[in-house]
Amino acid sequence: MTTNENGNYTGKVAFVTGAANGIGRATALAFARKGAHVVVADISEQGNQETARMIEDLGGRVIAVKCDVTRASDVKAALSKTIETFGRLDFAFNNAGVEQKNAATAEIEEEEWDRIVNINLRGVFLCMKYEIPLLLKQGGAIVNTSSGAGVIGIKGGAAYTAAKHGLIGLTKSAALDYASQNIRINAVCPGYIDTPMMGRFTGGTDEGRAKVIAEEPIGRMGKPEEIAAAVVWLCSDAAAFVVGHAMVIDGGQTVQ
Ligand SMILES: NC(=O)c1ccc[n+]([C@@H]2O[C@H](COP(=O)([O-])OP(=O)(O)OC[C@H]3O[C@@H](n4cnc5c(N)ncnc54)[C@H](O)[C@@H]3O)[C@@H](O)[C@H]2O)c1
Repeated sequence: MTTNENGNYTGKVAFVTGAANGIGRATALAFARKGAHVVVADISEQGNQETARMIEDLGGRVIAVKCDVTRASDVKAALSKTIETFGRLDFAFNNAGVEQKNAATAEIEEEEWDRIVNINLRGVFLCMKYEIPLLLKQGGAIVNTSSGAGVIGIKGGAAYTAAKHGLIGLTKSAALDYASQNIRINAVCPGYIDTPMMGRFTGGTDEGRAKVIAEEPIGRMGKPEEIAAAVVWLCSDAAAFVVGHAMVIDGGQTVQ
C-alpha cells in the first residue's frame, strides 16, 4: 500500500514533469496540498520556479529542477536530485508534452514528426525507464498524460495522435511488467483543458474558444484541477486495483 485511502501523502514524494504550466502545475499543487514533497521538473525554468513558489506559499516542501524530458541525462539528473533531497520516490506524473502544428498527414515535416514523438512518447519512456528502479524500492504509482487524441483520431494532428495512442500502449505494457512488483501504472486522457497549450490551440480568441467548447457535450472546457484530482486519486490506495487504465476525463467529448 502506498497511502491511506483518504490520500494523505505526508512523507511521500511526487515527481511531476511539465510542471511549469497548466495540468502539471495544478497536479504539483494538488500533491502538495495532500502533504507530499514535490519535485517540479520542466524545460521552462521561469514557470517551474513560479510553481515551486506557489507550493512554498502553501507551506509545502518542493524543489524545482530544469529538465528536458527528451534528454536522458536531464531525466537522470532530476531523479538523482529527487533522491538526494527527499530520499525516495513514490509517485511520478509524466505529463510534459507539446501540441503539433496543424497539418494533414502528408504535409507534416519529418522534423515535426520527430519533435512530437520525441517529447510526447519517447520522453515518457525515458522518464519511466529511470523512475521505475527508484519506485521498485518501496512500490508506488506512475500516471502518464495521454489525451482524447489517445483514443480517437484528430484531423490535422496525426503525429500528436500517434504519440498519444502510443503512450497508452506504453502505459499498458509497462503496467503489466510491474503490476506484481507493487508499481501501478496508468494514464489520463484529458479533453479540452483550459491551459496555456489550449490558449495556443484556440489562438486565445473568443471565437477559437467557442469552437472548442462546441465540441464538449458538457458545454465548457475542463479545468487543470479536474485532471489533477484524477491523477492524485490514481496514485492513492483508493485506486489500488486500477492497473494499466487509460482514464478519459473529457466532459463527454470522445463518447459522442
Ligand atoms: N490542454 C489540453 O487540452 C490537453 C488535452 C489533452 C492532453 N493534454 C496533454 O496534457 C499535458 C500538459 O498539457 P498542458 O495543457 O498543461 O500544456 P502546457 O503547454 O500548458 O504545459 C506543458 C508543459 O510542458 C513543458 N514541456 C514541453 N516540452 C518539454 C520538455 N521537452 N521537457 C520538459 N518539459 C517540457 C512546457 O514547458 C510546459 O510547462 C501534455 O502532455 C498535453 O499533451 C493537454
